[in-house]
Amino acid sequence: MSRIFVTRAIAESALSKLRARHQVDVWPQPSPVPADALATALRDCDGVLSLLTERIDETVLAGAPKLKVVSNMAVGVDNIDVAACSARKIPVGHTPGVLTQATADLTFALLLAAARRLVEADAFVRAGKWRTWDPSLLLGRELEGATLGIAGFGAIGQAVARRAVGFGLRLLYHSRREVDFAGATPVDKRTLLAESDFLSIHLPLSGETRHWLSTADFAQMKPGSVLINAARGPIIDQRALLAALETGQPGFAALDVTDPEPPGADEPLLRSSRVLVLPHLGSATLETRTRMANLAADNLLDVLEGRRPRHVVNPQVLS
Ligand code: DGY
Repeated sequence: MSRIFVTRAIAESALSKLRARHQVDVWPQPSPVPADALATALRDCDGVLSLLTERIDETVLAGAPKLKVVSNMAVGVDNIDVAACSARKIPVGHTPGVLTQATADLTFALLLAAARRLVEADAFVRAGKWRTWDPSLLLGRELEGATLGIAGFGAIGQAVARRAVGFGLRLLYHSRREVDFAGATPVDKRTLLAESDFLSIHLPLSGETRHWLSTADFAQMKPGSVLINAARGPIIDQRALLAALETGQPGFAALDVTDPEPPGADEPLLRSSRVLVLPHLGSATLETRTRMANLAADNLLDVLEGRRPRHVVNPQVLS
């Protein structure tokens, strides 16, 4: 029997699977585990099931000598120092695939909300400003024939593209590798920025993609375009975005992610009428979160029970 720490209450089906065979402690608060509590909890642990809110770095690993597996309930692993885990031969699990459709749906919800000014329109009605049908009231943008640029053309980027085909959008993408996707044209970053009416970010966060969009990049964006980010906040230089919105390049930003998360109460972006912000809801459906929790539990159990885990980002540590 191994000792497992789960850093937040997750789907009961996943917890029961873990509890059936191991000793499991679950962080009882509805907020992230503070660093000192995480260190204490992991001191004697064999496995940790973490969320993207926990930073698992060298300091944490050094205080957890028995740790055999880190299993993240997310596809992104930017909260984990994977190199430090690999150096200690600790596999890092993640949950690709199961959240692709939910995240693509949310991305499209952001795109449509921005194009048709839904948040502004709802506030308009609630404020009692709706007097009559007006031919020039809250006019938005047509999707048919507009260009959607996708930065990062992995599973989620392609799922967004499939939805875009149905809406008649012209598709461009920028990716490290060329993908066979009928109707989507690979382009360089400059062309992507210059030609996209809607630019959607689906890159993983890494040293290379941190501030992938900054002042000089915003200046290349199409005037009046819409920027959508359902990936990771730090891919966008948020300070630079605020200034860029003032110039109209882009004209609007629809963000599911920010840097930091949550944004401080004094975050200037929150006062801009050119920004829509959601609290990182990309994978937030009951079905998807249940699948994520179960896949994270399975990855963890696979390692602890001597099987090859289904999804690890550092397979080279598996012997
Ligand atoms: C992920 O999985 O990386 C998402 O951001 C959370 O669902």
